[in-house]
Amino acid sequence: MAQVATVPNDLEPYWMPFTANRAFKARPRFVSGAKDMHYFTPDGRKLLDGAAGLWCTNAGHNRDPIVKAIQAQAGQLDYAPAFQFSHPQAFELASRIAALAPGDLDHVFFCNSGSEAVDTALKIALAYHNVRGNASRVRMIGRERGYHGVGFGGIAVGGIVNNRKHFGALLAGVHHLSHTYNRAEQAFSVGEPEWGAHLADELERIVALHDASTIAAVIVEPMAGSTGVLAAPKGYLQKLRAICDKYGILLIFDEVITGFGRLGYAFAAERYGVVPDLITFAKGITSGSVPMGGVLARKGIYDAFMQGPEHVVELFHGYTYSAHPLACAAGLATLDLYREEKLFERARALEPKWSEAAMALKGLPNVLDIRTIGLTVGIDLASKPDGVGKRGFEAMDRAFHEQDMTIRAVGDTLALSPPLIVSEAQIDEMFGKLAKVIKAVA
Ligand SMILES: Cc1ncc(COP(=O)(O)O)c(C=O)c1O
Repeated sequence: MAQVATVPNDLEPYWMPFTANRAFKARPRFVSGAKDMHYFTPDGRKLLDGAAGLWCTNAGHNRDPIVKAIQAQAGQLDYAPAFQFSHPQAFELASRIAALAPGDLDHVFFCNSGSEAVDTALKIALAYHNVRGNASRVRMIGRERGYHGVGFGGIAVGGIVNNRKHFGALLAGVHHLSHTYNRAEQAFSVGEPEWGAHLADELERIVALHDASTIAAVIVEPMAGSTGVLAAPKGYLQKLRAICDKYGILLIFDEVITGFGRLGYAFAAERYGVVPDLITFAKGITSGSVPMGGVLARKGIYDAFMQGPEHVVELFHGYTYSAHPLACAAGLATLDLYREEKLFERARALEPKWSEAAMALKGLPNVLDIRTIGLTVGIDLASKPDGVGKRGFEAMDRAFHEQDMTIRAVGDTLALSPPLIVSEAQIDEMFGKLAKVIKAVA
Protein backbone atom coordinates (compact mmCIF):
# COMPACT_ATOMS: atom_id res chain seq x y z
CA MET A 1 0.00 0.00 0.00
CA ALA A 2 2.71 2.45 -0.99
CA GLN A 3 1.49 6.00 -0.90
CA VAL A 4 2.63 8.97 -2.89
CA ALA A 5 2.75 12.24 -1.01
CA THR A 6 4.33 15.52 -1.84
CA VAL A 7 7.29 16.63 0.22
CA PRO A 8 7.30 20.33 1.07
CA ASN A 9 10.23 22.25 -0.36
CA ASP A 10 10.68 24.47 2.68
CA LEU A 11 11.66 22.45 5.70
CA GLU A 12 12.89 25.40 7.72
CA PRO A 13 9.83 26.53 9.77
CA TYR A 14 9.28 23.25 11.59
CA TRP A 15 11.47 23.12 14.71
CA MET A 16 11.62 19.38 15.27
CA PRO A 17 11.56 17.85 18.78
CA PHE A 18 14.52 15.79 20.05
CA THR A 19 15.98 15.89 16.53
CA ALA A 20 19.20 17.07 14.97
CA ASN A 21 17.31 19.64 12.89
CA ARG A 22 20.08 20.65 10.50
CA ALA A 23 21.06 17.06 9.73
CA PHE A 24 17.42 16.09 9.17
CA LYS A 25 16.72 19.02 6.87
CA ALA A 26 19.87 18.27 4.86
CA ARG A 27 18.89 14.60 4.43
CA PRO A 28 15.28 14.06 5.60
CA ARG A 29 13.75 10.83 6.77
CA PHE A 30 10.09 11.15 5.81
CA VAL A 31 7.30 8.65 6.21
CA SER A 32 3.89 9.34 4.73
CA GLY A 33 1.92 6.14 5.23
CA ALA A 34 1.87 3.05 7.43
CA LYS A 35 0.22 -0.36 7.73
CA ASP A 36 0.76 -3.09 10.33
CA MET A 37 4.56 -3.63 10.62
CA HIS A 38 5.57 -1.12 7.97
CA TYR A 39 5.99 2.53 7.11
CA PHE A 40 5.88 3.88 3.58
CA THR A 41 8.02 6.74 2.36
CA PRO A 42 6.80 9.47 0.01
CA ASP A 43 8.95 7.93 -2.73
CA GLY A 44 7.26 4.56 -2.31
CA ARG A 45 9.74 2.59 -0.18
CA LYS A 46 8.42 0.13 2.42
CA LEU A 47 10.22 0.24 5.78
CA LEU A 48 10.12 -2.35 8.53
CA ASP A 49 9.22 -0.56 11.77
CA GLY A 50 11.72 -1.71 14.35
CA ALA A 51 10.67 0.83 16.95
CA ALA A 52 6.83 0.71 17.02
CA GLY A 53 6.94 4.33 15.96
CA LEU A 54 8.34 5.68 19.19
CA TRP A 55 7.63 2.71 21.48
CA CYS A 56 3.92 3.24 20.94
CA THR A 57 2.24 1.44 18.03
CA ASN A 58 2.01 -1.82 19.96
CA ALA A 59 -0.96 -3.15 17.95
CA GLY A 60 0.72 -2.26 14.64
CA HIS A 61 0.00 0.64 12.34
CA ASN A 62 -3.33 1.81 10.95
CA ARG A 63 -5.25 -1.18 12.23
CA ASP A 64 -8.74 -1.15 10.72
CA PRO A 65 -10.76 -1.39 13.96
CA ILE A 66 -8.85 1.54 15.47
CA VAL A 67 -9.13 3.64 12.32
CA LYS A 68 -12.86 2.94 12.07
CA ALA A 69 -13.46 3.74 15.74
CA ILE A 70 -11.69 7.10 15.40
CA GLN A 71 -13.61 7.93 12.23
CA ALA A 72 -16.95 7.03 13.80
CA GLN A 73 -16.22 9.01 16.94
CA ALA A 74 -15.15 12.07 14.94
CA GLY A 75 -18.53 12.04 13.23
CA GLN A 76 -20.43 11.54 16.49
CA LEU A 77 -18.81 13.73 19.14
CA ASP A 78 -15.82 15.90 18.34
CA TYR A 79 -15.25 17.20 21.84
CA ALA A 80 -16.83 17.04 25.29
CA PRO A 81 -15.83 19.46 28.05
CA ALA A 82 -13.43 17.66 30.33
CA PHE A 83 -14.30 19.65 33.45
CA GLN A 84 -17.75 19.20 35.08
CA PHE A 85 -19.06 17.36 31.97
CA SER A 86 -17.96 14.19 30.26
CA HIS A 87 -18.96 11.50 27.79
CA PRO A 88 -19.67 7.79 28.33
CA GLN A 89 -16.57 6.41 26.60
CA ALA A 90 -14.30 8.11 29.13
CA PHE A 91 -15.87 6.04 31.91
CA GLU A 92 -15.86 2.89 29.83
CA LEU A 93 -12.17 3.27 29.02
CA ALA A 94 -11.26 4.01 32.65
CA SER A 95 -13.06 0.81 33.71
CA ARG A 96 -11.32 -1.23 31.04
CA ILE A 97 -7.87 0.07 32.02
CA ALA A 98 -8.58 -0.44 35.72
CA ALA A 99 -9.59 -4.03 34.98
CA LEU A 100 -6.16 -4.62 33.39
CA ALA A 101 -4.24 -3.09 36.29
CA PRO A 102 -2.90 -5.10 39.21
CA GLY A 103 -4.17 -4.94 42.80
CA ASP A 104 -6.44 -2.08 43.75
CA LEU A 105 -5.17 0.35 41.10
CA ASP A 106 -8.72 1.09 40.09
CA HIS A 107 -9.03 4.81 39.31
CA VAL A 108 -7.79 6.50 36.15
CA PHE A 109 -6.93 10.17 35.60
CA PHE A 110 -6.60 10.99 31.90
CA CYS A 111 -4.21 13.37 30.16
CA ASN A 112 -2.58 13.55 26.72
CA SER A 113 1.00 12.34 26.93
CA GLY A 114 3.54 10.56 29.04
CA SER A 115 5.00 13.84 30.22
CA GLU A 116 1.61 15.02 31.43
CA ALA A 117 1.03 11.65 33.07
CA VAL A 118 4.26 11.97 35.03
CA ASP A 119 3.56 15.51 36.19
CA THR A 120 0.03 14.42 37.10
CA ALA A 121 1.33 11.50 39.16
CA LEU A 122 3.85 13.68 41.00
CA LYS A 123 1.11 16.23 41.78
CA ILE A 124 -1.29 13.52 42.97
CA ALA A 125 1.45 12.15 45.24
CA LEU A 126 2.13 15.56 46.79
CA ALA A 127 -1.55 16.39 47.14
CA TYR A 128 -2.32 12.96 48.61
CA HIS A 129 0.06 13.49 51.50
CA ASN A 130 -1.24 17.04 51.87
CA VAL A 131 -4.91 16.09 52.15
CA ARG A 132 -4.00 13.48 54.74
CA GLY A 133 -2.27 16.09 56.89
CA ASN A 134 1.29 15.13 55.93
CA ALA A 135 2.22 18.39 54.23
CA SER A 136 5.90 17.93 55.08
CA ARG A 137 6.15 15.03 52.63
CA VAL A 138 7.39 17.02 49.65
CA ARG A 139 10.61 15.35 48.50
CA MET A 140 10.63 13.26 45.33
CA ILE A 141 13.05 10.47 44.55
CA GLY A 142 13.91 9.69 40.92
CA ARG A 143 16.77 7.72 39.44
CA GLU A 144 19.83 8.44 37.34
CA ARG A 145 19.28 7.66 33.65
CA GLY A 146 15.51 7.72 34.22
CA TYR A 147 13.31 9.31 31.55
CA HIS A 148 10.01 10.73 32.68
CA GLY A 149 9.18 13.05 29.82
CA VAL A 150 9.92 16.72 29.44
CA GLY A 151 7.67 18.62 31.85
CA PHE A 152 9.49 20.39 34.67
CA GLY A 153 8.44 17.67 37.10
CA GLY A 154 9.53 14.93 34.74
CA ILE A 155 12.96 16.37 34.02
CA ALA A 156 13.50 17.06 37.72
CA VAL A 157 12.96 13.42 38.71
CA GLY A 158 14.49 12.19 35.46
CA GLY A 159 18.17 11.44 35.28
CA ILE A 160 19.34 12.23 31.76
CA VAL A 161 21.77 15.11 31.91
CA ASN A 162 21.09 16.62 28.49
CA ASN A 163 17.39 16.85 29.31
CA ARG A 164 18.15 18.78 32.51
CA LYS A 165 21.27 20.88 32.24
CA HIS A 166 19.83 23.80 30.24
CA PHE A 167 16.62 24.18 32.17
CA GLY A 168 17.44 25.92 35.40
CA ALA A 169 17.12 24.73 38.95
CA LEU A 170 14.17 22.37 38.33
CA LEU A 171 12.05 21.21 41.28
CA ALA A 172 13.53 21.61 44.73
CA GLY A 173 13.86 18.61 47.02
CA VAL A 174 14.49 15.96 44.37
CA HIS A 175 17.01 13.18 44.98
CA HIS A 176 18.19 10.40 42.72
CA LEU A 177 18.87 6.72 43.23
CA SER A 178 21.81 5.33 41.27
CA HIS A 179 21.00 3.86 37.89
CA THR A 180 21.10 0.10 37.79
CA TYR A 181 23.55 -0.47 34.93
CA ASN A 182 26.96 -2.04 35.42
CA ARG A 183 28.49 -3.47 32.26
CA ALA A 184 31.14 -5.47 34.08
CA GLU A 185 28.45 -7.29 36.07
CA GLN A 186 25.61 -7.39 33.56
CA ALA A 187 26.90 -7.42 29.97
CA PHE A 188 24.77 -9.39 27.50
CA SER A 189 21.91 -9.95 29.94
CA VAL A 190 18.79 -11.64 28.70
CA GLY A 191 15.90 -10.42 30.84
CA GLU A 192 16.41 -9.11 34.36
CA PRO A 193 20.10 -8.98 35.32
CA GLU A 194 21.17 -11.05 38.33
CA TRP A 195 23.27 -8.20 39.71
CA GLY A 196 21.94 -4.97 41.16
CA ALA A 197 19.03 -5.56 43.58
CA HIS A 198 21.13 -4.06 46.38
CA LEU A 199 20.98 -0.66 44.67
CA ALA A 200 17.42 -0.29 45.95
CA ASP A 201 18.90 -0.04 49.44
CA GLU A 202 20.06 3.47 48.57
CA LEU A 203 16.52 4.51 49.37
CA GLU A 204 17.25 3.60 52.99
CA ARG A 205 20.25 5.96 52.88
CA ILE A 206 18.15 8.82 51.51
CA VAL A 207 15.48 8.19 54.15
CA ALA A 208 18.14 8.18 56.86
CA LEU A 209 19.44 11.55 55.65
CA HIS A 210 16.12 13.36 55.11
CA ASP A 211 13.67 11.39 57.24
CA ALA A 212 10.66 9.59 55.80
CA SER A 213 8.37 12.36 57.02
CA THR A 214 9.76 14.62 54.25
CA ILE A 215 9.52 12.16 51.36
CA ALA A 216 6.44 11.96 49.13
CA ALA A 217 7.24 9.45 46.43
CA VAL A 218 9.73 7.38 44.48
CA ILE A 219 9.34 7.20 40.71
CA VAL A 220 11.08 4.65 38.49
CA GLU A 221 10.53 2.96 35.16
CA PRO A 222 10.29 -0.83 35.64
CA MET A 223 12.48 -0.95 32.50
CA ALA A 224 14.35 2.25 31.71
CA GLY A 225 13.68 2.53 27.99
CA SER A 226 14.82 5.86 26.65
CA THR A 227 18.26 5.62 28.23
CA GLY A 228 18.91 2.45 26.24
CA VAL A 229 16.86 -0.44 27.68
CA LEU A 230 17.92 -1.18 31.25
CA ALA A 231 15.82 -3.92 32.80
CA ALA A 232 15.35 -3.82 36.56
CA PRO A 233 17.74 -6.23 38.28
CA LYS A 234 16.12 -9.30 39.80
CA GLY A 235 14.47 -8.38 43.10
CA TYR A 236 15.13 -4.64 42.76
CA LEU A 237 11.54 -3.48 42.33
CA GLN A 238 10.33 -5.76 45.11
CA LYS A 239 12.93 -4.21 47.43
CA LEU A 240 11.85 -0.69 46.51
CA ARG A 241 8.25 -1.66 47.28
CA ALA A 242 9.21 -3.04 50.68
CA ILE A 243 11.19 0.07 51.64
CA CYS A 244 8.42 2.40 50.47
CA ASP A 245 5.90 0.39 52.52
CA LYS A 246 8.13 0.59 55.58
CA TYR A 247 8.20 4.40 55.43
CA GLY A 248 4.81 5.35 53.96
CA ILE A 249 6.41 6.57 50.71
CA LEU A 250 4.35 6.26 47.53
CA LEU A 251 5.84 4.13 44.76
CA ILE A 252 5.19 5.32 41.20
CA PHE A 253 5.91 3.07 38.23
CA ASP A 254 6.32 5.04 35.02
CA GLU A 255 4.91 2.51 32.56
CA VAL A 256 4.68 4.84 29.58
CA ILE A 257 6.80 2.35 27.63
CA THR A 258 6.29 -0.85 29.60
CA GLY A 259 2.49 -0.58 29.71
CA PHE A 260 0.29 -2.42 27.23
CA GLY A 261 2.30 -5.47 26.46
CA ARG A 262 5.89 -4.36 25.89
CA LEU A 263 7.14 -6.74 28.61
CA GLY A 264 4.50 -9.38 27.93
CA TYR A 265 1.90 -8.16 30.38
CA ALA A 266 -0.69 -5.38 30.51
CA PHE A 267 1.66 -3.65 32.94
CA ALA A 268 5.19 -4.55 33.98
CA ALA A 269 3.97 -4.38 37.59
CA GLU A 270 2.27 -7.71 36.89
CA ARG A 271 5.46 -9.25 35.52
CA TYR A 272 7.23 -8.36 38.75
CA GLY A 273 4.39 -9.11 41.15
CA VAL A 274 4.72 -5.61 42.59
CA VAL A 275 1.73 -3.32 43.13
CA PRO A 276 2.84 0.31 42.93
CA ASP A 277 0.65 3.13 44.27
CA LEU A 278 0.46 4.99 40.97
CA ILE A 279 1.14 3.89 37.39
CA THR A 280 1.65 6.32 34.54
CA PHE A 281 0.78 5.20 31.03
CA ALA A 282 0.51 6.68 27.51
CA LYS A 283 1.78 5.48 24.10
CA GLY A 284 0.32 1.94 23.82
CA ILE A 285 -3.09 2.88 25.23
CA THR A 286 -4.14 4.05 21.74
CA SER A 287 -1.36 2.20 19.90
CA GLY A 288 0.00 5.65 19.12
CA SER A 289 -3.03 6.63 17.02
CA VAL A 290 -4.34 9.55 19.09
CA PRO A 291 -2.42 11.28 21.89
CA MET A 292 -3.45 10.00 25.31
CA GLY A 293 -1.84 9.43 28.67
CA GLY A 294 -3.06 8.75 32.15
CA VAL A 295 -2.40 7.82 35.75
CA LEU A 296 -3.77 4.78 37.52
CA ALA A 297 -4.22 5.30 41.26
CA ARG A 298 -4.90 2.88 44.07
CA LYS A 299 -8.30 3.06 45.65
CA GLY A 300 -6.96 4.47 48.92
CA ILE A 301 -5.37 7.38 47.08
CA TYR A 302 -8.57 8.31 45.25
CA ASP A 303 -10.60 7.88 48.43
CA ALA A 304 -8.31 10.21 50.37
CA PHE A 305 -9.42 13.04 48.07
CA MET A 306 -13.15 12.27 48.26
CA GLN A 307 -13.72 14.31 51.38
CA GLY A 308 -15.40 17.64 52.14
CA PRO A 309 -18.48 19.22 50.55
CA GLU A 310 -19.62 17.34 47.45
CA HIS A 311 -19.91 20.37 45.18
CA VAL A 312 -16.22 21.22 45.62
CA VAL A 313 -13.54 20.10 43.16
CA GLU A 314 -11.36 17.53 44.94
CA LEU A 315 -8.19 17.74 42.82
CA PHE A 316 -7.32 21.04 41.18
CA HIS A 317 -5.72 19.51 38.14
CA GLY A 318 -6.74 18.50 34.63
CA TYR A 319 -6.38 19.25 30.93
CA THR A 320 -8.78 20.59 28.32
CA TYR A 321 -8.22 17.39 26.40
CA SER A 322 -8.31 14.90 29.30
CA ALA A 323 -10.24 11.86 28.00
CA HIS A 324 -10.73 13.41 24.57
CA PRO A 325 -13.48 11.51 22.70
CA LEU A 326 -11.18 10.53 19.81
CA ALA A 327 -8.54 9.22 22.19
CA CYS A 328 -11.14 7.26 24.18
CA ALA A 329 -12.55 5.70 21.01
CA ALA A 330 -9.04 4.79 19.88
CA GLY A 331 -8.21 3.44 23.33
CA LEU A 332 -11.28 1.20 23.50
CA ALA A 333 -10.64 -0.20 20.01
CA THR A 334 -6.98 -0.74 20.87
CA LEU A 335 -7.78 -2.63 24.07
CA ASP A 336 -10.20 -4.80 22.06
CA LEU A 337 -7.42 -5.64 19.62
CA TYR A 338 -4.98 -6.46 22.40
CA ARG A 339 -7.54 -8.84 23.88
CA GLU A 340 -8.80 -10.43 20.65
CA GLU A 341 -5.34 -10.99 19.24
CA LYS A 342 -3.82 -11.85 22.65
CA LEU A 343 -0.98 -9.45 21.90
CA PHE A 344 0.42 -9.28 25.43
CA GLU A 345 0.64 -13.08 25.56
CA ARG A 346 2.11 -13.00 22.06
CA ALA A 347 4.89 -10.67 23.23
CA ARG A 348 5.60 -12.99 26.14
CA ALA A 349 5.75 -16.03 23.86
CA LEU A 350 8.07 -14.27 21.39
CA GLU A 351 10.51 -13.08 24.05
CA PRO A 352 12.89 -16.09 23.81
CA LYS A 353 12.99 -15.92 20.01
CA TRP A 354 13.56 -12.15 20.19
CA SER A 355 16.42 -12.35 22.68
CA GLU A 356 18.10 -15.20 20.78
CA ALA A 357 18.00 -13.24 17.52
CA ALA A 358 19.31 -10.15 19.29
CA MET A 359 22.16 -11.95 21.04
CA ALA A 360 23.31 -13.33 17.69
CA LEU A 361 24.71 -9.85 17.01
CA LYS A 362 27.30 -10.38 19.76
CA GLY A 363 30.75 -10.30 18.23
CA LEU A 364 29.92 -7.84 15.46
CA PRO A 365 32.27 -4.85 15.27
CA ASN A 366 31.94 -2.28 18.07
CA VAL A 367 29.17 -4.13 19.90
CA LEU A 368 29.91 -3.59 23.60
CA ASP A 369 26.68 -4.87 25.10
CA ILE A 370 23.27 -6.22 24.14
CA ARG A 371 20.37 -6.18 26.61
CA THR A 372 16.94 -7.66 26.03
CA ILE A 373 13.73 -7.67 28.04
CA GLY A 374 10.24 -8.31 26.70
CA LEU A 375 10.14 -7.19 23.07
CA THR A 376 12.92 -4.63 23.45
CA VAL A 377 16.64 -4.57 22.93
CA GLY A 378 19.36 -2.05 23.66
CA ILE A 379 22.67 -2.41 21.80
CA ASP A 380 25.63 -0.32 22.93
CA LEU A 381 28.11 0.47 20.19
CA ALA A 382 31.57 1.87 20.86
CA SER A 383 31.68 5.60 20.23
CA LYS A 384 33.67 6.88 17.27
CA PRO A 385 36.88 8.63 18.27
CA ASP A 386 35.64 11.86 16.69
CA GLY A 387 32.34 12.14 18.54
CA VAL A 388 29.99 10.48 21.00
CA GLY A 389 26.72 9.65 19.27
CA LYS A 390 28.09 9.75 15.72
CA ARG A 391 28.07 6.01 15.19
CA GLY A 392 24.58 5.68 16.65
CA PHE A 393 23.25 8.50 14.47
CA GLU A 394 24.84 7.03 11.37
CA ALA A 395 23.38 3.60 12.16
CA MET A 396 19.87 5.04 12.50
CA ASP A 397 20.29 7.04 9.29
CA ARG A 398 21.70 4.11 7.31
CA ALA A 399 18.98 1.78 8.61
CA PHE A 400 16.42 4.18 7.15
CA HIS A 401 18.09 4.98 3.84
CA GLU A 402 19.89 1.73 3.08
CA GLN A 403 18.15 -1.07 4.95
CA ASP A 404 14.53 0.14 4.82
CA MET A 405 14.06 -0.05 8.56
CA THR A 406 13.34 2.41 11.37
CA ILE A 407 15.23 2.07 14.65
CA ARG A 408 15.96 4.39 17.59
CA ALA A 409 19.41 5.64 18.47
CA VAL A 410 20.20 7.30 21.78
CA GLY A 411 23.79 8.37 21.67
CA ASP A 412 25.62 5.26 20.50
CA THR A 413 22.97 2.90 21.80
CA LEU A 414 20.51 1.42 19.32
CA ALA A 415 17.07 0.50 20.62
CA LEU A 416 14.46 -1.69 19.01
CA SER A 417 10.89 -2.33 20.17
CA PRO A 418 8.71 -3.64 17.35
CA PRO A 419 4.91 -3.67 17.27
CA LEU A 420 3.71 -6.73 19.19
CA ILE A 421 2.27 -8.21 15.96
CA VAL A 422 5.81 -8.84 14.69
CA SER A 423 6.25 -12.33 13.19
CA GLU A 424 9.21 -14.63 13.79
CA ALA A 425 10.27 -14.12 10.16
CA GLN A 426 10.16 -10.35 10.65
CA ILE A 427 12.31 -10.67 13.78
CA ASP A 428 14.92 -12.48 11.69
CA GLU A 429 14.59 -9.86 8.96
CA MET A 430 15.00 -7.06 11.50
CA PHE A 431 18.17 -8.42 13.06
CA GLY A 432 19.52 -9.33 9.62
CA LYS A 433 19.14 -5.71 8.55
CA LEU A 434 20.59 -4.54 11.85
CA ALA A 435 23.67 -6.72 11.41
CA LYS A 436 24.26 -5.09 8.01
CA VAL A 437 23.88 -1.63 9.55
CA ILE A 438 26.32 -2.41 12.38
CA LYS A 439 28.87 -3.66 9.87
CA ALA A 440 28.35 -0.60 7.70
CA VAL A 441 29.16 1.78 10.57
CA ALA A 442 32.25 -0.16 11.67
C1 LIG B 1 9.01 6.24 30.75
C2 LIG B 1 8.54 7.44 30.01
N1 LIG B 1 7.87 8.40 30.66
C3 LIG B 1 7.41 9.49 30.04
C4 LIG B 1 7.60 9.67 28.69
C5 LIG B 1 7.11 10.92 28.03
O1 LIG B 1 6.07 10.65 27.17
P1 LIG B 1 5.62 11.75 26.09
O2 LIG B 1 6.71 11.86 25.08
O3 LIG B 1 4.33 11.18 25.55
O4 LIG B 1 5.40 13.03 26.83
C6 LIG B 1 8.28 8.70 27.96
C7 LIG B 1 8.50 8.85 26.51
O5 LIG B 1 9.21 8.11 25.88
C8 LIG B 1 8.76 7.57 28.63
O6 LIG B 1 9.46 6.62 28.00
